[in-house]
Amino acid sequence: MLTVLFADRIENWPAYEPALTTALAEAGIDAKLVLPPADPATVDYIVYSPRGPVQDFTAYTRAKAVLNLWAGVERVVGNPTLTQPLCRMVDEGLERGMVEWVTGHALRAHLNIDFFLSHQDGVWRQEGNVPPLARDRSVVVLGLGALGGACAQTLAGLGFQVTGWSRTQKTLPGVTCLSGAEGLRAALSRAEILVTVLPNTPETTDLLNTETLALLPKGAVILNPGRGNLIDDDALLAALDAGQIGHATLDVFRVEPLPPEHPYWAHPKVTVTPHIAAETRPASAARVIAENIRRFEAGEVPLHLVDRSRGY
Ligand SMILES: NC(=O)c1ccc[n+]([C@@H]2O[C@H](COP(=O)([O-])OP(=O)(O)OC[C@H]3O[C@@H](n4cnc5c(N)ncnc54)[C@H](OP(=O)(O)O)[C@@H]3O)[C@@H](O)[C@H]2O)c1
Repeated sequence: MLTVLFADRIENWPAYEPALTTALAEAGIDAKLVLPPADPATVDYIVYSPRGPVQDFTAYTRAKAVLNLWAGVERVVGNPTLTQPLCRMVDEGLERGMVEWVTGHALRAHLNIDFFLSHQDGVWRQEGNVPPLARDRSVVVLGLGALGGACAQTLAGLGFQVTGWSRTQKTLPGVTCLSGAEGLRAALSRAEILVTVLPNTPETTDLLNTETLALLPKGAVILNPGRGNLIDDDALLAALDAGQIGHATLDVFRVEPLPPEHPYWAHPKVTVTPHIAAETRPASAARVIAENIRRFEAGEVPLHLVDRSRGY
């Protein structure tokens, strides 16, 4: 019998215990679920989250893998005590959440919904306020992985002109795919709505800075559900104040929770959402965990193995 340690916040145990029990049984895995402080030397797999109680893996000498419940791995990938393979979470619940958050906020910007919400004053403002059709609106998605790729395809399905950008060249139906430094410049220069779904790595830090923000069409809208490190905050605030950027809806920040005194909270052109774009859902995540344990036990290639040299 395998021993699987659940090392997320204890508040999440009531939801994950039945989900993992069911998923492990369905995958045909004979396993016992345990909680910290179970004897580390008995643990075969660690179901991990950066908010959980286990951040030092040294004593887990028998563990065959660390299975992250989060899509992002920046808080664990450089952990010097981590010698086991690390898998990140890619699941249908995360993907649907991200697609819905991005689509909702893209449509909000596209239809100028904020304008009408703040002008319910009896004045009939038809002139100049008919929104263009989606096919006449250019949306750019930076990051075409599990989440960004799904967002790009959904936006393309709604009719938007969608351009995507990633490290390696991709092919996605209905999406103009670019890569490389020139590709980034070309993508930014057409981004009326810019969506950033990149991971936090040294290469992506401050990708949106004074110089790159200046490449966007004047008044562009930014949606960042990726990671806070992607944006130079001072540069964004200056670009918002100058009118270069029309609005930013930000779900992720360099420091979370975003401190109450941070200028984003009070800025009239910023919407803060509290890292809720895409949440891991226990039922679908448990199936991914169970499938990965099955794969490790069978000697098969695991799902969503993190490339630690790339950092994602
Ligand atoms: N706000 C939330 O609630 C929430 C929830 C889940 C995830 N997230 C964030 O979303 C991120 C993306 O998740 P995912 O599952 O889509 O990740 P993923 O499948 O690993 O995709 C990452 C994408 O970013 C691209 N990329 C990475 N580094 C790059 C670089 N230096 N230059 C250009 N492109 C680069 C990758 O390109 P290649 O494919 O060519 O390598 C890939 O297309 C996560 O890392 C996490 O930070 C946020």
